[in-house]
Amino acid sequence: MRSMTNVTATDAWHKLADLKDGFRPDLRGWFAADPDRAKDLTLTAGDLHVDLSKNLLNEAVLGALVELADEVGLAAKRDAMLAGEHINTTEDRAVLHTALRRPKGDSLVVDGVDVVADVHATLEQVYAFARKVRSGEWTGVTGETITTVVNIGIGGSDLGPVMVYEALKPYADGPEVRFVSNIDPTDVHEKTRDLDPTRTLFIVASKTFTTLETMTNARMARDWFLAGLADAGVAADGAIAKHFAAVSTALDLVEEFGIDPANAFGFWNWVGGRYSVDSAVGTAVVVAIGPENFADFLDGFHQIDEHFASAPWRENVPALMGLLNVWYVNFFKASTHAVLPYAQYLHRFAAYLQQLTMESNGKGVKADGSPVDTETGEVFWGEPGTNGQHAFYQLIHQGTQLIPADFIAVATPAHPIKDGDVDVHELFLANFFAQTKALAFGKTAAEVREDGVAEDLVSAKVFPGNRPTTSIMAPALTPSVVGQLIALYEHITFTQGVVWGINSFDQWGVELGKVLAKQIVPAITGDASALADQDPSTRGLIEYYRAHR
Ligand code: F6P
Repeated sequence: MRSMTNVTATDAWHKLADLKDGFRPDLRGWFAADPDRAKDLTLTAGDLHVDLSKNLLNEAVLGALVELADEVGLAAKRDAMLAGEHINTTEDRAVLHTALRRPKGDSLVVDGVDVVADVHATLEQVYAFARKVRSGEWTGVTGETITTVVNIGIGGSDLGPVMVYEALKPYADGPEVRFVSNIDPTDVHEKTRDLDPTRTLFIVASKTFTTLETMTNARMARDWFLAGLADAGVAADGAIAKHFAAVSTALDLVEEFGIDPANAFGFWNWVGGRYSVDSAVGTAVVVAIGPENFADFLDGFHQIDEHFASAPWRENVPALMGLLNVWYVNFFKASTHAVLPYAQYLHRFAAYLQQLTMESNGKGVKADGSPVDTETGEVFWGEPGTNGQHAFYQLIHQGTQLIPADFIAVATPAHPIKDGDVDVHELFLANFFAQTKALAFGKTAAEVREDGVAEDLVSAKVFPGNRPTTSIMAPALTPSVVGQLIALYEHITFTQGVVWGINSFDQWGVELGKVLAKQIVPAITGDASALADQDPSTRGLIEYYRAHR
């Protein structure tokens, strides 16, 4: 393998380092000096209106970041991804989630196969299945219609579907959907305990169909289902076929589990788990919101793909947001990044992004196996506003670490409800605007004194400002806009991975724990020699468990 560029040796990196030396962030001054700053730094991608002006950047920084994109070959690497080259080198795979949302009739031949035609053939199967379940044509073993769908999956086979289901609740007019992910048996118990098995459909979603949590949960669900039928005196013949469907790349294992191949929807090893909600992994979402809304969702992704593929870097929103993240992580030592949706329906967005960003870019070696040259992968986290304001914003405003934050809101609310004369959505948005303003411009000691504050309290009431934020607004939280937001962050993540020279598409770091968990089971269940093999701390914990169970 060719050895990779050391990003810290590029001219652009040196330029950025020089710019950082003596860099005096001054958002107040910059806005005062340049009345067009907000206009010039506000960009559009699809329906997304993205204001970058409250970031710690000036023309020189912007120029150097764009140069960095060129020096690391971002365009060539993006094009290689879009063309289906095997850029996931450690797994020797193409990375083609963008093919999942290409319109019908497009064509992309990879390794001799038209992947877009395959994508649409599977989508048609998923849509046909969802239509039957939604219309009531699909019935359970006793002839009843399905009222609840339970998606069983974890990681990418859970976080995407659950986030999108929650985000698009106003569009959900099909059966209720619940999600079981954790191997803690509490999860499957809580999600099934009030359900009628004859009206419940399980979708087992697992790319590999070997994941310990998902297969264990699927077996527990099958036992619960069969026990429920037995209790009700219903014969179990043919029942699994009417109550279990699956989504996987391993359709042979799906059949082995006992699920009718007619209810199994495939995808491909070129779709990473955390990039899969727009594949058949979204089947539960299709059942909830219907094929037409899901098609709009896919179209939203595609709009941002097109933007990322064609907009010059200076206008390319995902590329610039990714480059800005590099600026903060590597030159300001920002180790975390907050994502703060002012939209309650996006309450699982940060959790979803954690897998997307951190499983992708939490790497210590480059794609050629050599150590990275600089810090990588910041921690993404967040909660919807305004809840976060009353919890952790204190630290963002006045703490000692720089925490770049993305604020997300929509203009038209799903529920335009008033409190007396007050439009509550406007009150909500006022908080978004106020927070980004306070973070950017702060409050000086002189301004605090003007409020008549006692001198000994002045310093505690000063807001330093110059805390960077990006404001993302959209007309409404439609299926398309949710797709656009996901694609935006996918390409931000890609951009950062390219700059750092890492493979953003493998996840070897999750493997060791899985192997050790299997090895530890005998020690927990009483095998003395397996227990003796454990390190003293682990042995002590197991002994505690065995003494207290
Ligand atoms: O935790 C690692 C991981 O492989 C994720 O990347 C993936 O999304 C998740 O497990 C679930 O995997 P699967 O869909 O194969 O069950």
